[in-house]
Amino acid sequence: MNATAVLDSHVSHLTCSECNTRYSILEVQGYALCCNKPLVVAYDYNNEFDKASLLSQPNTMWRYASMLPVLNSDNIVSLGEGMTEILSLKNLRKEHGLSSVLVKDEGSNPTGSFKARGLSMAISKAKELDIDHCVIPTAGNAGGAMSAYCAAAGIKATVVMPSHTPLSFKQECELYGAELLLVDGLINKCAVVASEIEMKKGAFNVSTLKEPYRLEGKKTMGYEIAEQLNWKLPDVILYPTGGGTGLIGIWKAFHEMISLGWLKPDVKLPRMVVVQAANCSPVVDFLKGVEKDIALYTESIGNGLAVPVAFGQDMIARVVAESGGTTVTVTDEAMINGVKEVAESEGILMAPEGAALWKGLLRLIDQGEVSRDEKVLMINTGGGYKYLEHLV
Ligand SMILES: Cc1ncc(COP(=O)(O)O)c(C=O)c1O
Ligand SMILES: [Zn+2]
Repeated sequence: MNATAVLDSHVSHLTCSECNTRYSILEVQGYALCCNKPLVVAYDYNNEFDKASLLSQPNTMWRYASMLPVLNSDNIVSLGEGMTEILSLKNLRKEHGLSSVLVKDEGSNPTGSFKARGLSMAISKAKELDIDHCVIPTAGNAGGAMSAYCAAAGIKATVVMPSHTPLSFKQECELYGAELLLVDGLINKCAVVASEIEMKKGAFNVSTLKEPYRLEGKKTMGYEIAEQLNWKLPDVILYPTGGGTGLIGIWKAFHEMISLGWLKPDVKLPRMVVVQAANCSPVVDFLKGVEKDIALYTESIGNGLAVPVAFGQDMIARVVAESGGTTVTVTDEAMINGVKEVAESEGILMAPEGAALWKGLLRLIDQGEVSRDEKVLMINTGGGYKYLEHLV
């Protein structure tokens, strides 16, 4: 472990998300072996952390460093991620008679997606724990982000990606100096190859929720939503769900802010909506009690949604249930139309995963699950530029 604590982090330990068994934060950890479930980071709320102190913090996700697990600030690997704009879909909102549709635009992060948050966090912890080689199975964006942060940290990166992913996702990994392996199949097949590399080469596996820290990076979206909206949360948040890290992270952040006294204990938390691709909707099916052979889930133009097995499925299900949320699926055709509609009407070129939220919202309004006068926030998880070859 590099040096001693110089950051005022409130981090305490890691716990199994199923049975609360404690794991040490000072050692390299993957997932909770007691229950074969994700590990989560726990904090100590005894020390003061007043939200007024945010005023003097950097304009990145690291402004919440007191509620993040890095102990020594020298280990922070940052490329300026976070504090993304919250925009309004002004024209589409009016056209459809909706009172408030906001978009947190994660496309402006380094490497063009919200994956920058999780990987800035995970690679900072990898640096702190003296890890020298990381491997990641990815649907695309996480691989580019890990390549960039590993380059900045001087850590070797191996990225395992489906061969059908658009070229620009592959090229960025190579430009950042990562080793890129292509696999015929979806991310679950890439995960098998990544585990082999972990075992054979001793690389640290940064697979979604199989290491504890990407979740902490993604949770900063929840802190930012509260801070940027002046501590008044929306009624509904829509999230394009693959592995579900952001959805789980945002919900974790809301509860941490209640424990910190930043949000009132009786605050009305948003209903959290899982949006998935019609081609690949395991979480929606699970929540509806539909059992389907995973071989039937196929690729999507929203490649981040082509995740046939979510390791954090139980945690996602708990967020939807606790928040009174719901689920919706969107076809690839609707995603492409959504990208075009939002680009032409608002000047925002969303990733298909983000555009799925707009189309999903319209369906939920038609079905009466969201009303026209509710405050809605969509997490546009990435920019559309890397997907252009499939969009025009
Ligand atoms: C643009 C985009 N949106 C959404 C997702 C799904 O993210 P999560 O694994 O947090 O559900 C991904 C994952 O690759 C992605 O790249
Ligand atoms: Zn356990």
